[in-house]
Formats: sequence, structure tokens, C-alpha cells
Amino acid sequence: MPMSGGAKYGGLAGVVAGNTGICTVGTGQGLTYRGYAIEDLAEHACFEEAAYLLLNDGLPSRQELERFKSDLKDRRHLPQSLKLTLEQIPPSAHPMDVLRTGCSALGCLEPEGDFSRQKEAAVRLLACLPPMLLYWHHFSRSGKRIETVSGPDSTAGYFLRLLTGHAPDDPRLRAMEASLILYAEHEFNASTFTARTIASTLSDIYSAVTGAIGALRGPLHGGANEATLELIRRFDRLEDVEPGILDALKRKEKIMGFGHRVYTTSDPRSVIIKKHARRLSREAGDTLLYAVSERIEEVMWREKKLFPNLDFYSACVYHFMGIPSSLFTPIFVLSRTAGWAAHVFEQRADNKLIRPRAEYTGPQPRKWLPLEVRG
Ligand code: ACO
Repeated sequence: MPMSGGAKYGGLAGVVAGNTGICTVGTGQGLTYRGYAIEDLAEHACFEEAAYLLLNDGLPSRQELERFKSDLKDRRHLPQSLKLTLEQIPPSAHPMDVLRTGCSALGCLEPEGDFSRQKEAAVRLLACLPPMLLYWHHFSRSGKRIETVSGPDSTAGYFLRLLTGHAPDDPRLRAMEASLILYAEHEFNASTFTARTIASTLSDIYSAVTGAIGALRGPLHGGANEATLELIRRFDRLEDVEPGILDALKRKEKIMGFGHRVYTTSDPRSVIIKKHARRLSREAGDTLLYAVSERIEEVMWREKKLFPNLDFYSACVYHFMGIPSSLFTPIFVLSRTAGWAAHVFEQRADNKLIRPRAEYTGPQPRKWLPLEVRG
């Protein structure tokens, strides 16, 4: 039976569930990572700078950044038994399930152990999830066992290179960097809160990230970017968009990539990713996908005062990079692992078991009936 949060508790909307020094969302400060505005990070930083900032509470110096990138690059190898595990997963599996399984398997092969090694484990995960995903992707499609150790220093360049077989041009690389930065962290969203809850039991980081991947998978959270492309692709002609969306709204359909639990008038991340979508659309000579997206945005604002969240224009950006839609949410994982890890560290630094209470709404006490009487 589907569960409802219940009107009174409404999915804990507006409930402050703890302190964090990692990120501000929907406050007067705008969206910041450790005090730095998302607009500055997305414009000037590379993903590794943002990830380092989240894990270390400060931007890296040039030398620290080089060392961090080289640490990531050195940790891209996949243990043989992990490769064998990935090879057993059928081509029909969803890549999110592959990452969830791969993360869990890595936790068996290289357990975190003592929490003093938590940063090492986080770096290993950040380094290892992209090759894990792409190893399975290529093997399941063509039986090809790709070499995962070489490739560009940057996670963005490495991912696109390994996926497509060639180096991305500058606009695509910059769009990928921005996308990874925008997805890296977002306070107490469902997957991060899952990771913190798991960490609060003093469990290991692999369990926390495995659980977070499961929470991210659903279409109300990370899964929306994949569902968004399906929506946009419904329309072959611009003039069909308005009646199509009006009809969907009449049927009470959720329009994927719109709305947000915390933001009320716009998602600052959407403004940034939309610029990359427009640029890539122009360069690709696209005359439909981006225009359809903008028309959906207009209709949704006019009819429902709902605005696109990060997932909406991300779908366009990834499409113009030639990324299959089933990999959209996994890219979110590759990036958000930085935020999840930062939250695991923060939770552990001042831990208290997360264990809320529930208001009982079940039956009144009943008399025990022996099996013979129940028939
Ligand atoms: N399409 C149509 N109507 C919507 C949408 C939408 N995308 N989002 C909200 N609404 C409507 C609801 O139907 C509801 O209307 P009602 O009061 O008439 O019943 C009202 O707005 C409030 O919506 P809720 O779902 O109750 O709002 P909540 O805060 O719980 O949900 C959420 C936020 C889950 C993001 C919601 O807006 C949604 O489902 N969006 C689509 C999925 C999506 O894009 N998820 C990505 C989130 S961002 C991210 O993970 C990067």
C-alpha cells in the first residue's frame, strides 16, 4: 500500500533536522558551498576544486589541487573481483542499480575500517565510481573490457572521454564541469539525509553512500533528470507543447524537472545550467529540443507558478553531449558523492543517533487470536 507522509507531517517539509556548515539552500545567502556562491564556483572552478572544498572546508592552493587530481587519477583502477561482479550484472539493469551494487561491492573489498581513513575512502569512491559505471556500460553493450586507468586528469574530461571514445570540445567540457559542480551538494535533501542517518549509527561510509544512491534513484529526487528527457521528447512540434502540458496538468501528472521542496520562485542552479543548454543547442544546430524545453517552462510558470529545477535543463545539456538518458542520474551520483562524504564527516564529528519518533495511527490494542480460531 502506498505510504503517505500524512498531512500533519507532510514529508517533514520545513523541519530543521540538524546543523550543517557545508551548504546554504534557500536562505538570504543563496546557494553556497562552505560560503562560496554557486555562481562563482560554476563559472570559475573545476569539479575537483568544488569537491576538495566540500571535503576539506577550504579551496585548494594550486599545489593542493594538482595533488588532489593526481590522487583521484591514481585511484581509478578497479579490482579484478569488482570487474567480475560488474560483468555479472545484466545489460537490462538500470545503471543506478549498477552503481549501488558496485559501491557496496567495493566496501567489501576495501573496507573503510577505522574512521581515521574516511577521507581516503571518500577519494577512492570519487575516483572509482566513474570507471565502475563506464566499465559496466561498455561491457554490457559490446562485451568490451575497457582500460579505466588512463585518461584525462579531470573527472569531467575522463567521463566524457571514456564514454564517447574521444576528448570533448571546450563547451561540452565546461558544461560538464558546471553540471558536476551544481550537483555536488544541496544540504539535507533526501539522499544526503539518508547518508547522514546511516552514518549516525556509526556505520561505514560505503553503507552511507550505497543507501544514498538508493534514495537518489527515485524520480522525485535524482531520477527526475532521466524522466525529464522522456517528457521533452514527447513533443515533435513546438505547437503541441502547450496543449500537451495543459492536458498533463489536467490529468494531475507530475511534470518532471519542475518544482522544489525548498525553493519557491526559482532554482539558482537552473539559471546556470540553462545557459549551457542554450549554448550546446545552438552549436548542435538544434531547432526543437531547447525550444520545446523553454515552451514547457513558460507554460508551467503561467499555469502553476512552477519553475524548472536543476534536473530540467540538465537533460538538454546531457542530450547534446551524446550521453544516454539512463546515465543521467548516475552522473548525479558521481558528483553528489562529494557532498554525501562531507556530510558523513560532519555527522561523525558531532554524532548523535538520528532516531525520530512517530505518532501512532494504527489499531487500538486487540485480543490475540490463536491460529485455530482464525481459520
Ligand atoms: N508538476 C506538476 N505539479 C506539481 C509539480 C510538478 N513537477 N511539483 C509540484 N506540483 C504541485 C503538486 O501537484 C501539488 O499540487 P496540489 O497542492 O494541487 O496537490 C503542489 O504543487 C505541491 O507539490 P508537492 O509534490 O506536494 O510538493 P513537494 O514539496 O512535496 O515536492 C517535488 C517537491 C518532489 C520536487 C515536486 O515538486 C515534484 O514531484 N517535482 C517533480 C520531480 C522533480 O523534478 N524532482 C527533482 C527535485 S530537484 C533534484 O533532485 C535536483
